[in-house]
Amino acid sequence: MTDRNVESVLDLVRPSIREMSPYVGGVQISDYENWAKLNQNEFPYPPAPRVLEVLDYIKTHPHLLHRYPPGDHKELKKRLSAYLKIQPEQISFGNGSDEVLQNIGLVFLDKGDRYAYGSPDYSMWPNYQKLTGSMPVIIELPDGYTLPIDEIIKAKPKLATFSGPNTPSGAATPIKDLDRLVAELDGIFVDDEAYADFAEDDALELVRSGRYPNLIVTRTFSKAFGLAAERLGYALGHPDIISRVEAVRLPYNVTIVTYLMGLAALEPESIEHTRKLVGEIKAERAKLTQDLTELGFYVRPSQANFVLARGRSPAVAKMLYDRLAENKVLVRYFDSGRLSDCLRITVGTPEENERLLEKIRELSKQVSQ
Ligand SMILES: Cc1ncc(COP(=O)(O)O)c(C=O)c1O
Repeated sequence: MTDRNVESVLDLVRPSIREMSPYVGGVQISDYENWAKLNQNEFPYPPAPRVLEVLDYIKTHPHLLHRYPPGDHKELKKRLSAYLKIQPEQISFGNGSDEVLQNIGLVFLDKGDRYAYGSPDYSMWPNYQKLTGSMPVIIELPDGYTLPIDEIIKAKPKLATFSGPNTPSGAATPIKDLDRLVAELDGIFVDDEAYADFAEDDALELVRSGRYPNLIVTRTFSKAFGLAAERLGYALGHPDIISRVEAVRLPYNVTIVTYLMGLAALEPESIEHTRKLVGEIKAERAKLTQDLTELGFYVRPSQANFVLARGRSPAVAKMLYDRLAENKVLVRYFDSGRLSDCLRITVGTPEENERLLEKIRELSKQVSQ
């Protein structure tokens, strides 16, 4: 056997993958009870009671764990189809919407293909670009963070992915503008609706209409359904396009626990439970926006479960982030360019939001003394 050095093996790694690094999300902690954790746009409440009952069901049906889970997601598709009023053939499930978005990239992007995505927007877009070796076409969002429709059309991408409502701003592009965009775009448009449950409008009607085979909407159970840890997301689109997304997904990509929890989350009483809590989050979002504004931040109206609060300067924003963390209040700070004077704050429970505001009030007093 000859000795081999690692460099010669590293040379075999595809060039675009050499530049990739693992996803880094918001800070994670283990003793949640002691923190106000407002940094990852999670739902602050557990899932509906029927969802939690799945854990008991698994205990009395342990064979479910040593058999493979359903591979075709048939029952889950049926239930989601009834909930969304969309055909089961128009749905593809994944391990979070992250997997579904990656699958879409694999379906459409070859080396060198034009791939447009927004900035600031979801931090995974550059990863899908590198993964596929496609050509990045980065679209800088204007001040209000809504989509520059004509610019996207003129960029002639093969694939475009944008979050709506946008992260990190919570801004939503009017659906009539999206309608024009997909009507005029030659390529495929992916509307990442991770936060649509908190918004006034969504693109489901455009999918239902069947007018645009070049439109794919992605969604998740991670936010409003309180199931971030279970990893369940899905894509919606034209059946013939969705069949290609289904073709590239991994076998058995949804675990049995997740699958059963997805079914339980779509039962009428769970949906009612979720709807009520989403209403509460929206009311808290309005209150948080007003209170932060009174404390001197510029907070743009958000249609998601978070707000973007602009402070006086990058130094103040960073100082607040650090001092809040010392006080066990976690928010998100982006140490770069346009967002460096901002904090992105997830809307939490009324108690968590009050704790955040209280700490900011205390810190502001100390700074002005
Ligand atoms: C805009 C956006 N899209 C997709 C995702 C991924 O969600 P999931 O948990 O379904 O993978 C997130 C997660 O925060 C997000 O912010």
